[in-house]
Amino acid sequence: MCYDECGHLAWTSRIGSSDVAPVGFPLMSSTERRRFCCDADLALIGYDGRDAAKDLATLRSQGPRPTTQEVIDVFVAEGVDGLVVLDIGAGVGSVHLALLEAGARHAVDVDASRDYLAAAREEAGRRGLGDRVEYHYGDVVELAAELPTVDVVILDSVICCYPYLAILLEAAVRSKPRLVGLTYPRDVWWMRTFMGAYNAAHALVRSPAHYFIYRHRSVRRLLAEAGYAEIYDGGIPAWRVAAYRRS
Ligand SMILES: C[S@@+](CC[C@H](N)C(=O)[O-])C[C@H]1O[C@@H](n2cnc3c(N)ncnc32)[C@H](O)[C@@H]1O
Repeated sequence: MCYDECGHLAWTSRIGSSDVAPVGFPLMSSTERRRFCCDADLALIGYDGRDAAKDLATLRSQGPRPTTQEVIDVFVAEGVDGLVVLDIGAGVGSVHLALLEAGARHAVDVDASRDYLAAAREEAGRRGLGDRVEYHYGDVVELAAELPTVDVVILDSVICCYPYLAILLEAAVRSKPRLVGLTYPRDVWWMRTFMGAYNAAHALVRSPAHYFIYRHRSVRRLLAEAGYAEIYDGGIPAWRVAAYRRS
């Protein structure tokens, strides 16, 4: 038996397949998963929360980023009236707040950053949506079993912060939502170079900041195995926007 750093019994998953390991990160292809279940661990994936105040100011002055707006538009075109949205790693809440304003009934915000949760809550209150959002602090992989059933799931710039793609997607679709949307860095040589340099620079100064790049075919295959067909593939040269519908 093996206990992890949080004192829980560690478990293994399908992440051993090189196909779902982050591109260019051979050390991450271990079959034993690190668990993100206590504040110190969650800081490793929630480090972006240090930018919460800045991100909130940007959202208020400029609106959502173009790729975020793109995935919002895809969902709105599919129809979100009366639906429940799960926004994993919601940051300041751009996607679920826009979908609530477009007619969604309720949103569930799960984030590994307390700073981002506080910023999203503040923005929801400011826009008069506070009573339609529930907030959960933690790793969605750890929390999935406690979350309500949802219709729409969004992972906007989130899979690139998490080292285990298969279990993250498994947690995301646990309640069999109708629609799943993702935005993430493209697996192209210049993004790998940029992210490799970014990771190395942060490692040098012992910062937890770390990006992972996954292959699109891995995302598509894992979601196909879970019963989802791709309905949208867009984005910009550096960042992919993809959406899936339950078949
Ligand atoms: C780069 S930020 C993106 C924030 C926001 N979605 C956006 O696009 O502006 C990544 C977010 O994902 C969260 N995150 C990453 N992995 C997570 C996980 N497994 N469970 C919950 N939150 C996660 C981090 O805490 C952080 O808030």
